[in-house]
Amino acid sequence: MKIAILGGTGNIGKGFALRLSHKHELTIGSRNIEKAKASAAEYNEILKKYGSNNRIEGTDNKTAAQNADVVLLAIRYENIPSIIELINPILDKQIIVSVVVPMAKDRCYINQDSSPLKIPVSPEDYNANYFCYSTPPAGSAAQEIAMLLPEGIELVSSFHNVPANTLANLDMELDYDIGVCGNSMHSKSIVSDLVRGIPNLRPLDVGPIETSAMVESLTPLMINIASRNQMKNLGIKFV
Ligand SMILES: NC(=O)c1ccc[n+]([C@@H]2O[C@H](COP(=O)([O-])OP(=O)(O)OC[C@H]3O[C@@H](n4cnc5c(N)ncnc54)[C@H](OP(=O)(O)O)[C@@H]3O)[C@@H](O)[C@H]2O)c1
Repeated sequence: MKIAILGGTGNIGKGFALRLSHKHELTIGSRNIEKAKASAAEYNEILKKYGSNNRIEGTDNKTAAQNADVVLLAIRYENIPSIIELINPILDKQIIVSVVVPMAKDRCYINQDSSPLKIPVSPEDYNANYFCYSTPPAGSAAQEIAMLLPEGIELVSSFHNVPANTLANLDMELDYDIGVCGNSMHSKSIVSDLVRGIPNLRPLDVGPIETSAMVESLTPLMINIASRNQMKNLGIKFV
């Protein structure tokens, strides 16, 4: 399968490129073709050290998306509209995968004045560093993206709860469950196969695209727990 990772030069894009390249043809996209080629060369060096001859290619985001079966959006929420605008004219039968989590720091709801419960918050905790899920107007990042895509282009929302550093470290074994949300069973099964292709990741069907907010919002929860409890490489596992 031909997979394009838009924003493939970034934190999570690197891990996806490294982990998916052993079974698929990987191209990473960037706004800057030279940057994409440099990142691809860096990833290929890493693969070589692990004994793999697989080649990752680098190009601009639009060309990467044009030639792909699956287009993974490894881009921050605020940059999504410009990327979708860029690729919309060339979308045909590609499956779009969103890993996007809209998050904010220090702008969460809990506020001593506005809390209806008047929960006492200690001064140390109040305004302390933590992340919250920034619910987009449509309900989730995936629903926002669905509204921007041309009719007939299938969207799957997945991989939100995998930490980038863990994914990109090929010495680390992953042992996580991966929620898969979408309205098409066909495209969900293709993305579930991508998940299964990474050892010890288990895809779990979560429901239609409307369920994505629940999965997206687990990521800031995980980050807060990790940072407050000195835990590393947290992921989600249903037991
Ligand atoms: N990091 C994680 O652990 C993690 C885990 C799960 C999900 N996610 C989600 O994955 C997505 C990417 O996260 P990340 O941490 O990998 O992000 P990132 O490294 O900050 O950015 C990814 C790429 O976005 C591109 N970019 C930057 N500004 C842009 C703009 N104005 N327009 C278009 N592209 C732009 C850059 O590529 P070029 O400069 O090469 O164009 C950059 O390498 C986010 O939506 C995040 O919520 C991240």
